[in-house]
Amino acid sequence: MATLIIVTTIIIISFGSNRMNMIGCGTDKHYKHKNWNGSGWIPSKTGWDDMGGDFSWMPTAGTWPGSGNTVMWGVGNDGKMWTKNDSSGNWGGWNDMGGTFKSPPSSTTWGSGGMSVGGVGTDGGMWVKTNNGNGWGGWESLGGTFWNAPPSYATWGSGTRSICGVGNDYGLWMKTYSGNGWGGWTSLGGTFISQVIVISRGSGYMDVYGVGSNEEMWWRAYSSSGGWGGWQSLGGSFASSPGVVSWGSNHMSCYGKGKDGYTYHKKWTGGSGWGSWENMGNGCKGAPAAGSWGANHQAIICTGNDGKMKMKQWDGTQWTPSGSTWDDMGGSFVDDGA
Ligand SMILES: *[C@@H]1O[C@H](CO)[C@@H](O)[C@H](O)[C@H]1NC(C)=O
Ligand SMILES: *[C@@H]1O[C@H](CO)[C@@H](O)[C@H](O)[C@H]1NC(C)=O
Repeated sequence: MATLIIVTTIIIISFGSNRMNMIGCGTDKHYKHKNWNGSGWIPSKTGWDDMGGDFSWMPTAGTWPGSGNTVMWGVGNDGKMWTKNDSSGNWGGWNDMGGTFKSPPSSTTWGSGGMSVGGVGTDGGMWVKTNNGNGWGGWESLGGTFWNAPPSYATWGSGTRSICGVGNDYGLWMKTYSGNGWGGWTSLGGTFISQVIVISRGSGYMDVYGVGSNEEMWWRAYSSSGGWGGWQSLGGSFASSPGVVSWGSNHMSCYGKGKDGYTYHKKWTGGSGWGSWENMGNGCKGAPAAGSWGANHQAIICTGNDGKMKMKQWDGTQWTPSGSTWDDMGGSFVDDGA
């Protein structure tokens, strides 16, 4: 019986060029939020806005296409999906979306005005809800039999999105929605002890990352022209689920907390392929999460050994504050999001 290794409790979501939101699960069970508005941190570099709620797991969030408004979701300690948004420029209250879940949620936003959120239900099946711009539909059962690793949801073409999860067989399963509706479950194989994350590095591309039962990072890539390649080990020895981000067309970074306590980074740069693992220092207790708010820019965050959020940023040339040290972003966060 595999044990799920730690999952992040904090996320970074860009809401426009040089704009980012950070949302994390506090030790007081409330979600906390701060944003970078292009020139400053709101409410401050080490301060956080209290979003309330009653959560123990990581949130998910997205930006409504066009408006730049942020929507966040979490599965509460009551097992139901809860959401709030800043549609009026101010955060509204929590809205009950119902359902009954055994995993944290994952969400995706697409093209011209749509969002979906999903999670693994207490029945073990995948459940999703979609808003096409005309309000939320009902819960849709996608079936399947899933382990308690959080699912991952990504849009990788106009209106084309895929949700994946680790099955009770510890293999990766994926279902894709295209303009014609949902296809069937596809078994992508592998044997995982972590959350598996799907991202898109460009239209027509999907990349999946997870830590295998041998504790190495595994990666598999899809392109609409070439289909799925084989699983490839990226090596390493990990004690956390991956944090991954695309930070420009055909550019990706993969992070993980190593079994030795250090956080590691490997990047894919278009034609050059994968670099080697870079040691980012030992400030993290939790799993890393990464985000990008413009080409060549990315940030990595984690719950630090002291419970405060830690961050470092890549500006295209260098890491700030440095490759091995972290900025203190304050707060008090839980260190395992699942
Ligand atoms: C961003 O926030 C800072 C600090 O609160 C403020 O001084 C600045 O005017 C804001 N900039 C924008 C573009 O809103
Ligand atoms: C945003 O919040 C408002 C007020 O609670 C709600 O009416 C609206 O449906 C929410 N929007 C989304 C996309 O959930």
